[in-house]
Amino acid sequence: MKIPALCFGGLTARRPIVQGGMGVGVSLSGLAGAVAASGGVGTISGIHPGYREADFQKDPFKANLRAIGKELEKAKETAPDGIIGFNFMTVMNHYEEYVREAIAAGADFIVSGAGLPVTLAKIAAGSDVRILPIVSSSRALKLIVKNWLRHDRLPDAVVVEGPLAGGHLGFRYSDMQAGTFLPLEDCLTDVLGYVGELEEAHGVKIPVIAGGGVRNHADVERLMGLGASGVQVGTRFVATEECDAAPSFKAAYLESSAADIKIIESPVGLAARAIETPFLQRAEREGRIPVQKCYQCMGHCKAAETKYCISQALIDSVSGREGLVFCGAHADEINGLSTVEQVMRELCGE
Ligand SMILES: Cc1cc2nc3c(=O)[nH]c(=O)nc-3n(C[C@H](O)[C@H](O)[C@H](O)COP(=O)(O)O)c2cc1C
Repeated sequence: MKIPALCFGGLTARRPIVQGGMGVGVSLSGLAGAVAASGGVGTISGIHPGYREADFQKDPFKANLRAIGKELEKAKETAPDGIIGFNFMTVMNHYEEYVREAIAAGADFIVSGAGLPVTLAKIAAGSDVRILPIVSSSRALKLIVKNWLRHDRLPDAVVVEGPLAGGHLGFRYSDMQAGTFLPLEDCLTDVLGYVGELEEAHGVKIPVIAGGGVRNHADVERLMGLGASGVQVGTRFVATEECDAAPSFKAAYLESSAADIKIIESPVGLAARAIETPFLQRAEREGRIPVQKCYQCMGHCKAAETKYCISQALIDSVSGREGLVFCGAHADEINGLSTVEQVMRELCGE
């Protein structure tokens, strides 16, 4: 099968591969720029993109705002004609300010999940930035679209993420534990049904991008055969030279076995998938790792009660220290470091 290009919001990606945003710091300008230069869609993570800025400890908000512009500029230097946008988690404090900053900096698109991005259309009003929600069901998408239509906007594309994805998942912890969740194929069919209704009612085309567990060309073909216009990939891009994470983060993937990949209940209150590192073992053993410094990243997180500081745990791992290593369900199948271009070619069957 010849893999068609992915078109959304007036943009065309020669290869229909969207690199999913990976925070903290796993997908910054290095990875996103390389994917965009290779004809795919590059996503810079908007979760503490400024963690390497000198004043991050003192003023994380200011450092993050500054890093949004810097990272986009660097990625655009690598891929001047590429498609590059930002991923922001809806549950983060300062969500609106970060989105506005990314739009002002010239991001091609904003993609948001981890909560329902019901306010995104309002924030993006008056700009021509493309807006994409990440959902796992048509039910979630309906709630988002109801709000977006109040601002006369529809999604430029929709990302459907299934239960095999990395990081935070759109499924309950109890369902992930019990195995009572729908596979990606069913989530995709469910969302495609509703998107079809929207397309007919509004006379538009809304591409649906499927992600979570995509490993190879056969997976891409299967999902596109079911009606996806593209795929979103995270895990496979972590073990590349261009990925922005520290070598030890990538090594954790290469050295992992299936038994090391766990579903955890993250301090954010969502189910998540991660590699069982000494850090996770310690958190489990001790029940709580006291917070040394609060980055005030989420309104509902209480520093005195949380199991551990998720921002710190993610900053530590991406910086090469012991911490939380998010991964997709098939991370154990990756046995060697490659390049973005190699991964793209494999996924596209070239
Ligand atoms: C290390 C890591 C960090 C991630 N962080 C985020 C994030 O901050 N926001 C988000 O929406 N998705 C996040 N994800 C999900 C990816 O963007 C992607 O959709 C998903 O992992 C796709 O599944 P795959 O990893 O099996 O390819 C993360 C995934 C990984 C592996």
